[in-house]
Amino acid sequence: MTRTMKWIRPLAAAALACALAAPALRAQQKQAPAPVLKQELRGMFLIGAAINLAQIEGRDTQGSALVRREFNTISPENVLKWEAVHPKPDSFAFAAPDRYVAFGQKNGLVVIGHTLVWHSQTPRWVFQDAAGQPASRDTLLARMRHHILTVVGRYKGRIKGWDVVNEALNEDGTLRPSPWLKIIGEDYIAQAFRFAHEADPRAELYYNDYSLENAAKRAGAVALIRKLQAVGIRVAAVGLQGHYKMGWPAPAALDSTIAAFAALGVKVNITELDVDVLPPARPQYRGADVSFRADTSSALNPYARALPDSVQQALARRYADIFAVLLARRGVVERVTFWGVDDADSWLNNWPVRGRTSYPLLFDRAGQPKAAFDAVVEAARRARAARQPTSSR
Ligand code: XIL
Repeated sequence: MTRTMKWIRPLAAAALACALAAPALRAQQKQAPAPVLKQELRGMFLIGAAINLAQIEGRDTQGSALVRREFNTISPENVLKWEAVHPKPDSFAFAAPDRYVAFGQKNGLVVIGHTLVWHSQTPRWVFQDAAGQPASRDTLLARMRHHILTVVGRYKGRIKGWDVVNEALNEDGTLRPSPWLKIIGEDYIAQAFRFAHEADPRAELYYNDYSLENAAKRAGAVALIRKLQAVGIRVAAVGLQGHYKMGWPAPAALDSTIAAFAALGVKVNITELDVDVLPPARPQYRGADVSFRADTSSALNPYARALPDSVQQALARRYADIFAVLLARRGVVERVTFWGVDDADSWLNNWPVRGRTSYPLLFDRAGQPKAAFDAVVEAARRARAARQPTSSR
């Protein structure tokens, strides 16, 4: 026997063993197919992702396929924001949102609208008169109504629910001094909900904000919802954006926040979920204000090449803790939507620091499920097995 033969024999034997085992392995795989999020969470709550133009148009084939396979609801990351859909007073740009809604309908997904009244990504002309001075209350109210009737009206019956007002609160729970508040006054929020209801009486209407898990801001939101209810406005749900950090919010704070809104008779949706593993640009900052910007540095971008396994596992544990709370509160929590499909899409690659490499979602840049995905599946299976009574408080 030559030396080469000596090498080849065991290799060939191993190859043969593999070939023989392959059908058995395949059969096994058939019995236990790769878990799919929307199936694992069926009967608990809707599970979704915000999608971008490349996914809507199918240019991002990986992202678009993931959306269709894993999720049953979509939100528009940018295409329905005022600056995108209504860039000039008399011109609406419906091509992209039309495709967004068609993508959802074609694939049987629950389609969400984001967002009607916000201080960001809203063109300056909205708040100005012809001379560049602040518009009058009547002018701004008329513009708001026109915008809402046109946009919500166009998708009537096809968009299930709208983030009517986004981020109206300061961190201390007072109303944010946005141009909406300054020009119209406090009732701008109620007016926006009235116009949205007028445009599509059957659509669910939401108030959406970040860091409502903090006591002061949550108290402000509770007071706001109560005021709206007192004047006869039906808020279907509060959206907790869910831009979370590794250490914030504590699961107990998330739980009591959901309970606080449930006590008002409103549902809670997690509307923009991601978990930031990168170092904070401003240590104590917990918010998600899109206007916050920080300079880049390599210290702020520690995982530019890869995510260490220890962090990967810590992220998985964090997702397990978050989903344990959400699953225990199913019935109040009706939808959980991630802000992006895979890590490459995440806005956290560019906010608040441009050009970082972030890892906040369940799928990696190759579209593969991460340890955090397995943790969510595990949490869902555990909740199902425990058959805890559905919380409807
Ligand atoms: C973000 C988008 O993801 C970015 O692409 C865009 O440049 C800025 O806005 N809160 C919200 C979302 O309500 O609309 C924001 O989306 C993220 C914070």
